[in-house]
Amino acid sequence: MLGNTFGRIFRVTTCGESYAGGFRKELPIPEQLFGGLMAIVDGVPPGIKLTADMIQHELDKRKPGQTPLDSPRLEKDKTFIFSGVMEDQLTTGAPVGIVIPNNDIQDIHIQQYRDYKDEIRPGHAEYGFFKKYGDRGDWVGAGRASGRETAGRVAGGAVAKAVLDKMGIDVIAYTVESNGIKAETPVSYATAKENYRKNAINCPDLAAAEKMEADVMRIKEEGDTAAGVVELIIKNAPAGLGEPVFDKISAMLAHGLCSIGAIKGIEFGAGFQHATMLGSQSNDEAYVDEETGRVRFKTNNCGGILGGISNGEEIRVKCVVKATPTVSVPQHTVNMKEMKDVVLEPITRRDPSLLPRIYPVIEAMARCSILDAIYMAEGYWKVSNIDEKWLKV
Ligand SMILES: Cc1cc2nc3c(=O)[nH]c(=O)nc-3n(C[C@H](O)[C@H](O)[C@H](O)COP(=O)(O)O)c2cc1C
Repeated sequence: MLGNTFGRIFRVTTCGESYAGGFRKELPIPEQLFGGLMAIVDGVPPGIKLTADMIQHELDKRKPGQTPLDSPRLEKDKTFIFSGVMEDQLTTGAPVGIVIPNNDIQDIHIQQYRDYKDEIRPGHAEYGFFKKYGDRGDWVGAGRASGRETAGRVAGGAVAKAVLDKMGIDVIAYTVESNGIKAETPVSYATAKENYRKNAINCPDLAAAEKMEADVMRIKEEGDTAAGVVELIIKNAPAGLGEPVFDKISAMLAHGLCSIGAIKGIEFGAGFQHATMLGSQSNDEAYVDEETGRVRFKTNNCGGILGGISNGEEIRVKCVVKATPTVSVPQHTVNMKEMKDVVLEPITRRDPSLLPRIYPVIEAMARCSILDAIYMAEGYWKVSNIDEKWLKV
């Protein structure tokens, strides 16, 4: 399997699967070593405060079983830092290693997966896995294609957060739409920040959130699942991040965000609305801000990115999150071993909506992307000898 590292200078490598290590239960080793998730984070500066609790805080946002809107699994996601941090809780500059043992390995669920391991679950990754790994792929809980894989990147994103916090750069992601029910938009950063954690569906429009939650519960009763849209704001990202050609900041963010399972579309700023805007409407007009003497923009249809380079305004991206593929509705599929059509009955626990759990993953990937871009930009500025005056405009 290729592609388990994200980033160029700030780099996060993950390993581990959904039910990793269930079969190691018989071995004479501590429970924590049966299996789980790991992240190795490279490019962490020395002297940054980093504790297991700081990582745990981010992981706790994505763990299931917290509300009726997510799956009843009991992944405790207890985090351990095993390298890169000294007793004073400060990073050393060496790679930070993080381990998240899987504490919810239950034989009954492994058996359920075993019973259906030759079948392609509709909406899941199995067909591609059979094509790439034959019958060697990890069939327990979708392996690397599992939502649980995201715990490793959330841990990596928590390390990026520790660095970005010192720079005053904040990243938040919140729900703006669920199954067609829309929050009032645009949402200001201040309102989103204040409200988005006040309900299970992470929607800063509290009235809309109530309707969304009731709607998801209704869909859950019907055995089905719901989709939605999450908006991301990167606040205080400096102007000048991203390169003009292949490494546009939009392309780097797209790489990070589209690497998350169930994300089926993203748009920057006004996004698809650009399709019906005239040039004079979509252009963001520039002006000199009297207070700072810097260039600002009157509107932000471009989502804070022009020509692939950040312009100092809020970076705004929307992500379409598809409905959870596991449903309690029988669906047609194929048994790959026998190469015959079959009907798949629902087999495992599920989230009726991914919206309560996906936002910390979106925040994590945005943090990793933006910190990597900062390293690139700062490094380039350092060696390029650009006249200081351009750094102040
Ligand atoms: C945080 C997170 C949790 C997820 N949890 C589930 C789940 O409980 N059940 C499920 O069927 N899919 C879940 N998914 C979605 C599947 O992993 C994903 O849809 C599937 O691997 C197919 O990939 P694709 O939708 O990107 O094409 C989750 C995804 C994420 C990011």
